[in-house]
Amino acid sequence: MEAVSRPVTAELPIGSDADLSRVRQRVRQAATDLGFGLAQQTKVVTAASELARNTLVHGGGGLMEMTSLDDGHRRGLRLSFVDHGPGIRDVELALTDGYTSGGGLGLGLGGARRLMQHFTIDTTPGQGTTVTVEAWEQGVPTARRGTP
Ligand SMILES: Nc1ncnc2c1ncn2[C@@H]1O[C@H](COP(=O)(O)OP(=O)(O)OP(=O)(O)O)[C@@H](O)[C@H]1O
Ligand SMILES: [Mg+2]
Repeated sequence: MEAVSRPVTAELPIGSDADLSRVRQRVRQAATDLGFGLAQQTKVVTAASELARNTLVHGGGGLMEMTSLDDGHRRGLRLSFVDHGPGIRDVELALTDGYTSGGGLGLGLGGARRLMQHFTIDTTPGQGTTVTVEAWEQGVPTARRGTP
């Protein structure tokens, strides 16, 4: 069955450090509600934290859209981080561990990609950036579910 996305469950502003804490809290809550295990909760909160910080620091602020997913076997969470900042000219370079255009460690973007099951960057220089990630419930592989 195809992944069916339900309506957006939340849209949170990202404009301050206080917003970053709210994003972390809401993502943790959503992951708990979806029945994610502790390890998966921690991964998705860590990724969300890094991506939200990029939205604030590099994108000049924006928002996070949170959508719950269900493919008929497992539940998931899709998070989109949207800004209308400068965009990313070289996405491969930005994803390289250790690359930073500022004073960071340059580990946020690549780290978030490794932690999530799905990761896309849609960016246009001068117009902005949207990073979308998905995390899914971990457990018995889908193909084996239901077999005796
Ligand atoms: N939303 C964004 N808009 C514009 N540039 C971005 C955005 N997100 C990331 N970048 C670019 O990608 C680079 C790498 O991002 P990454 O999160 O890996 O490192 P960082 O933010 O510089 O440091 P940190 O390790 O503290 O996160 C950034 O330095 C920045 O140049
Ligand atoms: Mg970063």
